[in-house]
Amino acid sequence: MDLSGKTALVTGAARRVGKAVALGLARRGADVVIHYNGSQEAAERTAAEIAGLGVEAVPLGADLRHAREIERLFLEIGERIGRLDVLVNSAASFRAARFEEISSEAWDEVMALNVRAPFLCSRLAASLMRRPSGKEDTGPDTGAIVNISDLSAYRPWPGYTHHGASKAALVHLTSSSALELAPDIRVNCVIPGAILPPPGVDLESEEWRRRGESVLLGRTGNGKHVADAVVSLIENDFITGAILPVDGGERLLK
Ligand SMILES: NC(=O)c1ccc[n+]([C@@H]2O[C@H](COP(=O)([O-])OP(=O)(O)OC[C@H]3O[C@@H](n4cnc5c(N)ncnc54)[C@H](OP(=O)(O)O)[C@@H]3O)[C@@H](O)[C@H]2O)c1
Repeated sequence: MDLSGKTALVTGAARRVGKAVALGLARRGADVVIHYNGSQEAAERTAAEIAGLGVEAVPLGADLRHAREIERLFLEIGERIGRLDVLVNSAASFRAARFEEISSEAWDEVMALNVRAPFLCSRLAASLMRRPSGKEDTGPDTGAIVNISDLSAYRPWPGYTHHGASKAALVHLTSSSALELAPDIRVNCVIPGAILPPPGVDLESEEWRRRGESVLLGRTGNGKHVADAVVSLIENDFITGAILPVDGGERLLK
């Protein structure tokens, strides 16, 4: 898919990895819906930065744990923009809890945001992607979806049972939706490794530098590594159902 003139929705795009992906898509000429939940001001700043690249950027808020908010978000995209070509499911939680302390409410919340929201967004996006847009389309596909999982999908992390189960389910959702939405909508998944430190850990800290040493390539990555992978999966119209690690080879260790 040629991204120029297309419209992309990136969830959790106000900050960090989602922002890097939104900027990557905008640099290829796509208009971008900057979804946010709590970070409205950051979303507006990101939208202004993206608009500076000469494309349109629309910040829209929604708490993706709630199906009704997701429906409202897509209704708004349909009414205000009328089309969607690309969806990147990046918004997620990252919660640690000991196995025996995970309540059913906490389990449901993680699953709602990390798995059900990407499913509902993909389902609603598919109907917008299949709607005749009036803009000139090129290429065999009318839509591309990229899910962002992580390495807990491959191997359990102590203290992250519900998180890991959600990210593994997201990998399965990628395969299932690629199968079901073909041939006109492609669905792929990126599995980032150590890209940005979790809240409370500084990018320049000794702790984060040491984190890089646990990666096969001996260093951490950055948001552009993820954005470049997302862009290439969208642009290559013969790739669907692919699971692409962007982890400096970390999955091969341990
Ligand atoms: N950072 C890494 O090194 C790394 C590594 C592997 C995988 N990943 C994956 O890459 C993606 C982005 O990573 P990140 O580190 O940038 O993530 P993050 O900062 O933990 O969160 C991304 C966004 O999710 C949104 N979000 C949280 N709760 C939400 C809710 N209830 N409804 C809607 N949105 C909600 C937040 O939006 P607001 O700020 O607007 O509230 C937040 O900006 C995630 O899927 C993550 O699992 C990241």
